[in-house]
Amino acid sequence: MRKKIVAGNWKCNTTVQEGIELAKAVNELVAKEGNKNVVVVLGTPFTHLTSVVASVDASRIGVASQNCAAEAKGAFTGEVSAAMVKSTGAGYVILGHSERREYYNETSETLNKKVALSFANGLTPIYCCGEPLSIREAGTQNGFVKTQLDETIFNLSAEEFLKLVIAYEPIWAIGTGVTASTQQAQDMLAYIRSLIADKFGAAVAEETSILYGGSCNAKNAAELFSQPDIDGGLIGGASLKAEDFIQIINGF
Ligand code: PGA
Repeated sequence: MRKKIVAGNWKCNTTVQEGIELAKAVNELVAKEGNKNVVVVLGTPFTHLTSVVASVDASRIGVASQNCAAEAKGAFTGEVSAAMVKSTGAGYVILGHSERREYYNETSETLNKKVALSFANGLTPIYCCGEPLSIREAGTQNGFVKTQLDETIFNLSAEEFLKLVIAYEPIWAIGTGVTASTQQAQDMLAYIRSLIADKFGAAVAEETSILYGGSCNAKNAAELFSQPDIDGGLIGGASLKAEDFIQIINGF
């Protein structure tokens, strides 16, 4: 049975101290009332990773960075390598978020290097894909997402592919308060699963966790998570409030 996953993406928010407080609050709520069938992940800034790992119960909550370097190590001022992320105790890395693709020029080529380095260091990539509004309006979102996958994670071996998590995040729904309709989200996730089946076989498709992201919140999570192909969420804004985040976790 594939995993149900609710991952927070804190983005560039919270100081270290605020992040520790938030992590502790989530940890307490998860221990008290969190759905035990859900894998919870906190995607924090690099600076927070070590402290957040130390602040949560590792048997209930995983920790993710929001990026890693495309090079293993060396003279790349300002970069943080996958090995460094791993050494904090984090187990996951969010890769290919649309904000990174858009503002930091992340290409399929860089992402392939980042995915490979993540695997080499034992990190689980949460690989993001999703189309901009213009593509959705043109009705060509399926082809757009297929190309994103074809150029990157569809080149992995089935063994590696089985170790990653996919997050579909339509860019027009991120941080906008406009959630994709439950049907739009389900349709795209079913489509992605069908592509995985074509590429790697039905068994791999059945085992792959695919998350929805984009204005997923305490109010709409349960309906989204009721869909057969939606295995959880990648949560931005609503992951910054522990009370909202626990409701999303318990949306399953
Ligand atoms: P949002 O962000 O929940 O604030 O829309 C989701 C994301 O970008 O991962």
